[in-house]
Amino acid sequence: MKTVRTVADLRAALQPPRRAGRTIGLVPTMGALHDGHLELIRRARAGCDEVVVSLFVNPAQFNDPGDLDAYPRDERRDADLAAQAGADLLFAPPVGEVYPPGFATKVVVSGPLTETLEGAHRGPEHFHGVTTVVTKLLCMCLPDVAFFGQKDAQQALVVRRLVRDLDLPVHIETVPTVREDDGLARSSRNVHLQGADRDRAVALSRALRAAEGAVAAGERDAAAVRERALAAMTHFDVEPEYLALVDPETLEPVAEVDGEPVLVAVAAHVGSTRLIDNTLLTPSPGAPR
Ligand code: PAJ
Repeated sequence: MKTVRTVADLRAALQPPRRAGRTIGLVPTMGALHDGHLELIRRARAGCDEVVVSLFVNPAQFNDPGDLDAYPRDERRDADLAAQAGADLLFAPPVGEVYPPGFATKVVVSGPLTETLEGAHRGPEHFHGVTTVVTKLLCMCLPDVAFFGQKDAQQALVVRRLVRDLDLPVHIETVPTVREDDGLARSSRNVHLQGADRDRAVALSRALRAAEGAVAAGERDAAAVRERALAAMTHFDVEPEYLALVDPETLEPVAEVDGEPVLVAVAAHVGSTRLIDNTLLTPSPGAPR
């Protein structure tokens, strides 16, 4: 695997495969790679001829400067893992390559998609930072397919909106959430979970399982499903920042789980670590009422 740091070098490296008609897959990451990222890379390897992994800790999407400073960074380790998972090219630009002096453009997806849930709690600027950098990464690399994780369901939705609205010639592939054995969604932030907080962190996935269980048992009232999920979190002494049942396309709150898919999204601080998770409820028509 080769590492490139400039847009010019990235384009030069991709010119021969592109000319040969080989498909290019891009996996955008901020590094601190874990099995969730590696699953994205493996999917890209399976579906594309040339696999590019980008590694860029994007300052524009951090609402908390402390979070940016604390973000785990180890490029050598990330490069080894990306190569093992099948990446051909690592694009690891410095901040000045992505945001050169005089940089003045923002790509904004407006409305509920960026203003609710994560947008309401981190501020919509978080998503403006994501959409600006993702647009840039897509323009820099011009992949046929770009891979995103369902773990960040709202981000994947926002990116799909962006790609549709700007007619970007790329297919967005969403990859299911990879979890630890106890259900905790893999996240670069999990390394900050110490001692008892690591055990309490399972509260989020337990809440989602409780919501799934309630629906499987016939509950259709969204408020009642939410109560069941909340109770599971309370059991671990974790209070959600938000726990919402929403339409997976519009993120509007739903009152009922009535056969259409419903996204359950949750965010919570466990100790000083902020975690998010989600699940898609898809009650089958024949499920008990
Ligand atoms: P990062 O948090 O590094 O995540 C990179 C990709 O890995 C995202 O698409 C994310 O959804 C996916 N991912 C993370 N944990 C996962 C898990 N447990 N299972 C499956 N996929 C998982 O998300 C970002 O970086 C940035 O916002 C980025 C898109 C790179 C723009 O800066």
